[in-house]
Amino acid sequence: MSLASVLVLNGPNLNLLGQREPEVYGSASLDDHLAVLRQRAESAGVSISELQSNSEAELVTAVHNARGVHDAIIINAGAFTHYSWALHDAVRSFSGPVVEVHLSNPTAREEFRHVSVLSTVVNGTISGFGGDSYVLALDALLLHAR
Ligand code: DQA
Repeated sequence: MSLASVLVLNGPNLNLLGQREPEVYGSASLDDHLAVLRQRAESAGVSISELQSNSEAELVTAVHNARGVHDAIIINAGAFTHYSWALHDAVRSFSGPVVEVHLSNPTAREEFRHVSVLSTVVNGTISGFGGDSYVLALDALLLHAR
C-alpha cells in the first residue's frame, strides 16, 4: 500500500486546545501539534490535508470526500468518538487504513468516554500521549504501509 496522502480530521472543541482544560490536554494548540505532524510527514514524503470541525456533518462529508483521494485517515473525533454512529458508518465506507487518536486516555477518565463507537471500524487507536499521539498515528501508518 502506498502512503502518499493522509487526511487528518479533528472534531469538536479541539480548536480550543491550549485554552481548554490544560491540565488534561496540555498548553499547546492544535496547530502546534499539527506543525510537528506536518514536519514528520514532510520528512517521510507524505502529504497531509487537515480539517478541524465542530460539525458532525462536516466531518462525515470529509470522510466521504476522502474516498479515492487520500490513502489513509487520522481522526480525533473528540466527543463524537463516544456516540456518533454517523461517523462510524462514514469511516466504515473508507477502504484505506484509519487510525483513531486521542490526546488523553479516555479509558482512564469518566465512564461515558470508555466507549468508542469508532474503535470497531478503525485499524487501531493511539491515545494518552498528548500531541505525540498524532505523530505516533502517522508512524503506525508508515509501518503499516511497508
Ligand atoms: C479527546 C477525548 C474525548 O473524550 C474528548 O471528548 C475530546 C478529546 C482526546 O483527544 O483526548 O474532545 O478525543
